[in-house]
Amino acid sequence: MLGPRLEGRGRISLVPPTLEDYRRLSRSMLQPEIGRFWGPRFGDFSDETQEKRFKEGADSQTSVSWHIAFAGEVVGFTGIFDIDWVDRDGESGIFIGRPDLFGKGIASEAVRLRTRYAWDELRMHRVHNWIGLANRGSRRANEKSGYRQMGLYPRSWYRSGEWYDEWLGEAFPHTFPDPT
Ligand SMILES: CC(C)(COP(=O)(O)OP(=O)(O)OC[C@H]1O[C@@H](n2cnc3c(N)ncnc32)[C@H](O)[C@@H]1OP(=O)(O)O)[C@@H](O)C(=O)NCCC(=O)NCCS
Repeated sequence: MLGPRLEGRGRISLVPPTLEDYRRLSRSMLQPEIGRFWGPRFGDFSDETQEKRFKEGADSQTSVSWHIAFAGEVVGFTGIFDIDWVDRDGESGIFIGRPDLFGKGIASEAVRLRTRYAWDELRMHRVHNWIGLANRGSRRANEKSGYRQMGLYPRSWYRSGEWYDEWLGEAFPHTFPDPT
């Protein structure tokens, strides 16, 4: 499913994805500055494959996805995936495709909007996510919206000649710090 427009602070909003932006963002995954903690670093990025993936996401009954807009421009995506409607649990993810915009609070605001939507609109019980332990930016953005460490998966992920640990986080409605 495609998520609705959600207006946030600081000219940041979540917007329904379009195929054109999806194609552009998918290709940006191959930039080394962006893919340090995002894998894989190879794949089929042809227009046909991207269109197929986009349609699968839009048709999916177990995911909600958004593009992230900053100052009117689409710069990333986020979503909640593999939702189990009985357990009311799902896995979240986030990606900003513009390294020049890292560190400006865009992910923090996008995670806040996404997390509030999970509690107030989807009535979920929990959202969890896997993040490279060394990916401080992603961990912090999620922690600020109430994600806490549930576990650590040591040496679970291989990148650039090194093994990395992964952080498993979870958030609940009662851990969300910002009711506004
Ligand atoms: C990780 C990512 C989502 C962070 O997005 P962002 O918009 O730069 O994050 P924010 O600006 O909201 O920063 C969140 C916090 O992390 C900190 N931070 C951001 N980047 C950081 C970095 N490279 N190193 C250390 N801290 C960092 C910020 O200072 C902020 O902390 P604070 O609020 O305590 O001061 C973004 O860099 C990205 O998309 N990277 C590529 C894909 C990726 O790794 N996705 C996540 C996979 S789990």
